[in-house]
Amino acid sequence: MLKLSVIGTGYLGATHAAAMSSLGFEVVGVDIDPKKIELLSQGKVPFFEPGLGELLAAEIKSQRLKFTTDFSQISDCDVHFICVGTPQRSDSLAADLTYVDTSVASVAPRAKAGSLIVGKSTVPVGTANRLADVLRGANEKVELAWNPEFLREGFAVEDTLRPNRLVVGVTSDRAEEILKEVYASLLKDGVPWIRADLPTAELVKVAANSFLATKISFINAMAEICEAAGGDVTVLARAIGYDPRIGSRFLQAGIGFGGGCLPKDIRAFMARSEELGARQSLEFLREIDSINLRARARVIDLVKVELGQDLKGKRIAVWGAAFKPDSDDVRDSPALDIAVELGKAGASVRVHDPKAIEPARARFAHLDFTESIESCIAGADVILHLTEWKIYREINPVAIKSQVNQAIVIDGRNSLDKELWVRAGWKFRAPGRA
Ligand code: UGA
Repeated sequence: MLKLSVIGTGYLGATHAAAMSSLGFEVVGVDIDPKKIELLSQGKVPFFEPGLGELLAAEIKSQRLKFTTDFSQISDCDVHFICVGTPQRSDSLAADLTYVDTSVASVAPRAKAGSLIVGKSTVPVGTANRLADVLRGANEKVELAWNPEFLREGFAVEDTLRPNRLVVGVTSDRAEEILKEVYASLLKDGVPWIRADLPTAELVKVAANSFLATKISFINAMAEICEAAGGDVTVLARAIGYDPRIGSRFLQAGIGFGGGCLPKDIRAFMARSEELGARQSLEFLREIDSINLRARARVIDLVKVELGQDLKGKRIAVWGAAFKPDSDDVRDSPALDIAVELGKAGASVRVHDPKAIEPARARFAHLDFTESIESCIAGADVILHLTEWKIYREINPVAIKSQVNQAIVIDGRNSLDKELWVRAGWKFRAPGRA
């Protein structure tokens, strides 16, 4: 049985390590953050991801899965998965490859002859070929492959163990065979297998995320048109979604996409296209990005339409801080972005989230957070529904009406039951619904 290492134990790496262990492999997870490693070693997940806690605890107990900060423990592994982050650089749209570069530099001298380094991180096309060159200089007995990851936060375990495809960028049959051995049980279940060269494998990932971002911005552009023309984008989305060529998923209009992936991936893709002399090919992504950022601004405009231009002294209840439900990830969260801007405009903003308060507070210490929905809405002039957690859909608008100052709700995710709220006497506003 192969022995695996996983470098980087964030959302991607921790999930991949636990999932590979559950397939029967011995796995060593490595991270430079001792606090993360200590928690993971105790079977505790340092972030919220449904189902991962149970899986991790079981795998730690099985003793197949170990975590360490010590790179020397990977020397007997056959495959090394690079799962570190590639955030946006602070000085440009491009991706910061520091962690990928240092991971490969740390693994290369310790990797045994014949082992395979497999990148899973999202990188600008051309990175794998560059790293393969580095590797040839550092340890010529080790090969590089690229195996992009398509997992969604909130469904990370499911997406890792039952992915809708496996893509491997390889430069030899041997590398493909090793990866087929790793994923043998998934292949037996019929998961499609796509062999590609290194650049294509890297591109598949950013192309997929760009397509998803485009779909969301498309429907948000339709929301703008619906507002201007007096239409309803939720009905429009449902109607076009019945065409199987279009499909109904990722057509939820609202405050747009956020998180640690879609926004930075489309920006890094644009930056890379310029380096490749193909700026024009991805020019449309610039528009996708601006439609997306406009979706946040438009909700702030809606608040001002309802409460007046001057928000000083207005109480605003914000439901949701995470960039999406079933996650405590607040990276580039549209909800928090809106909350911060409303605060800057003078409003008194109180934010509720079922899971993401701690990480949100770590980023925006000056915002007012609460763990109680009652305290969030007490005396509010408007409720903003910004992350579509299930608990918010279960709230009875009749029961909470007496707790607010003005019964106005803005559904930034178009997922509350409008009829229910209107029947309960609320003024209901939402992007794309005149
Ligand atoms: C995304 C991709 O969906 C994954 O396939 C990919 O592996 C991952 O990025 C990554 O690059 O690692 P994720 O960021 O977890 O996954 O979240 P999504 O479910 O894609 O949602 C992204 C954003 O779009 C969220 O802010 C969500 O609220 C928003 N969204 C989604 C909409 O505004 N409307 C929709 O209809 C769907």
